[in-house]
Amino acid sequence: MLTCYDHATAKLLENAEIDSILVGDTYAEVCLGHTTTLPATMEHMLTVTEAVRRGAPTVYLVGDMPYLSYQVSPEEAIRNAGRFMAQAGCDCVKLEVDRRMISTVERMVSVGIPVMAHLGLKPQSISSTGGYVIQGKQASAALRIIEDAKMMEEAGAVALLLEAVPKEVAAEITNSTELPVIGCVSGPFCDGQVVVLHDMLGYGAGHPPRSIKQYAKLHDLLIDAFRAYAKDVAEGAFPVSDECFGMDPEQLAMVRRALGKSPD
Ligand code: KIV
Repeated sequence: MLTCYDHATAKLLENAEIDSILVGDTYAEVCLGHTTTLPATMEHMLTVTEAVRRGAPTVYLVGDMPYLSYQVSPEEAIRNAGRFMAQAGCDCVKLEVDRRMISTVERMVSVGIPVMAHLGLKPQSISSTGGYVIQGKQASAALRIIEDAKMMEEAGAVALLLEAVPKEVAAEITNSTELPVIGCVSGPFCDGQVVVLHDMLGYGAGHPPRSIKQYAKLHDLLIDAFRAYAKDVAEGAFPVSDECFGMDPEQLAMVRRALGKSPD
């Protein structure tokens, strides 16, 4: 699984036969330049998710419910999740949860909404959980996440996403659930992995770096391309005459005559 926030990249992911796309609320950080995911709104997320679905019509698409779109009440959660499903064509929605959200997950599942339960580090709650720090390092915290995962399975979640938990905790959860478990900075023992696309592409200097493997250095490649373009324009090397459109000679002659100039 990779994150994606636009139509052109979605087409590439579809062509690359990536199993699953998460239109993450990291959109707020990566594309809008915020320092947290909290400013992502329903309208942002739906617009972007619809664009991604148009680019990747067959990929399993996970819509990420933004801050306060599901926490206020189960009714609001169902209504907003329904928009991800019906309007944006998602295959499931992802919520950052723990046991306190069980009744919301159960209500969503009861009306047929497939829920991916995001456990461990919950970026929408960093103000109350101490920032971007590994969750479940202490035995009691690890056990709580393991129990939460079990409770989400019992509540009817279709998949789990574990963000920033120790690899041992991820292994324990993956081995003890029937659900597919996607890991995010949680080690190699999960069923699948997700990373923020821009991080793995080396694209977007200035964004807080996450410790993940880079599969390209787009930042450097793009800076070189932008500089080469600006240089070509400044030197008249772009556009040359076969990189633009000309007029039909008769039409051009008519224009010139109308302007009082000689036709050729
Ligand atoms: O919003 C997001 O992109 C995420 C991933 C980092 C897991 O939740």
